[in-house]
Amino acid sequence: MLDIDFVRSNFPAFSEPSLQGQAFFENAGGSYTCGPVIDRLTRFYRERKVQPYAPYAVSEAGGAEMDEARERLAAILGVETDELSFGPSSSQNTFVLANAVRCWLTPGEAIVVTNQDHEANSGPWRRLAEEGIEVREWRIDPETGSLDTEALGPLLEDGKVRLVCFPHCSNVVAEINDVASITAAAHAAGAFTCVDGVSYAPHGLPDVGALGADIYLFSSYKTYGPHQGVMVIRRQLGFELPNQAHFFNGEVLYKRFTPAGPDHAQVAASAGMADYIDLLAAHHGIEGSAVERGAGVHDLMRAHEAALMQPLLDYLAGRNDLRLIGPRDADRRAPTIAVDLGRDAEEAARKLAGHGIMAGGGDFYAVRPLQALGVDLDKGVLRLSFVHYTCKAEIDQLLAALDATL
Ligand SMILES: Cc1ncc(COP(=O)(O)O)c(C=O)c1O
Repeated sequence: MLDIDFVRSNFPAFSEPSLQGQAFFENAGGSYTCGPVIDRLTRFYRERKVQPYAPYAVSEAGGAEMDEARERLAAILGVETDELSFGPSSSQNTFVLANAVRCWLTPGEAIVVTNQDHEANSGPWRRLAEEGIEVREWRIDPETGSLDTEALGPLLEDGKVRLVCFPHCSNVVAEINDVASITAAAHAAGAFTCVDGVSYAPHGLPDVGALGADIYLFSSYKTYGPHQGVMVIRRQLGFELPNQAHFFNGEVLYKRFTPAGPDHAQVAASAGMADYIDLLAAHHGIEGSAVERGAGVHDLMRAHEAALMQPLLDYLAGRNDLRLIGPRDADRRAPTIAVDLGRDAEEAARKLAGHGIMAGGGDFYAVRPLQALGVDLDKGVLRLSFVHYTCKAEIDQLLAALDATL
């Protein structure tokens, strides 16, 4: 079982006086940052803030720390070190990738996008239609918000699809999609996959190698780290897509899709995410390879989250004056819980703030899924999202605040 006191001792926000009494339920927007990341970031700016990879000691230390971040995170994700790179954000990363795909595909070839995705893994791909690429939409069920894997088959049937873009889980529906089987279906039809893991990774880093996805994206600032987008691009697709970086960097996989210079300090500080996972593993007696330690920590996080989530889902599902979006069963979803109140969601969030609940209302850039679900975008949804560092007392505080304000 997850030692919640140990977990919280690794997040300075929980001992910050100004945050006492405030229960955080907008984690899907951006999480608290763990201590090891803050320590590394501070150290980099104090001691190592010079151009890295030059032949003097502080520069070597900075470069080595950037390499360490890629090496250790890639190992946890079950991929090679050079298959992982950092960009300014996941939206920026898909923008660059879509530009590469624009040059790679030829008119008449097709891609699949969903209407379950955050706009970051949707809009840049849909714009390829302007280049004569056929864009096929894999649509959610308008009642449940689910993506039915059966419905993907016909979209792939004619063998024209080269890329399938979909979320590991949506930031409003939150149902966990079966990445491995969707990727297997895409591969069997001759297509690659690009998976938006932004809403999934904060709940436990996945073994991307085992899932088989060709591209896997997530945002470190939602995963206890600094404000970066982490991008896994497997070798085969990485070298098939045209280089987007300076021509002389094109032979190095981790440089090919990051045309801008990286944020050295934040890349280095991302090693703190691996420190944190290893701290959790060691504390809970989880041993083995990096992938095994990551998987053990993932499972601990998921079990803790599911136990806290179910009573909240039961409470929301039991009310007939609101619509709970996504599955009612905690095991099938992430704790990113969107609720259609049929009235202004931001106003509802403001009332919750009066009870020490930090939550948000709006569309969360999930305009397409909310539209497909028939949600009035002017009113938006109230979103209550948490991660493994959330404790039972905070869920109780939330339930009481919902009772008092909704
Ligand atoms: C599911 C999902 N995908 C992508 C993004 C975009 O991430 P970034 O802010 O790193 O561009 C977000 C951000 O909220 C998200 O929730």
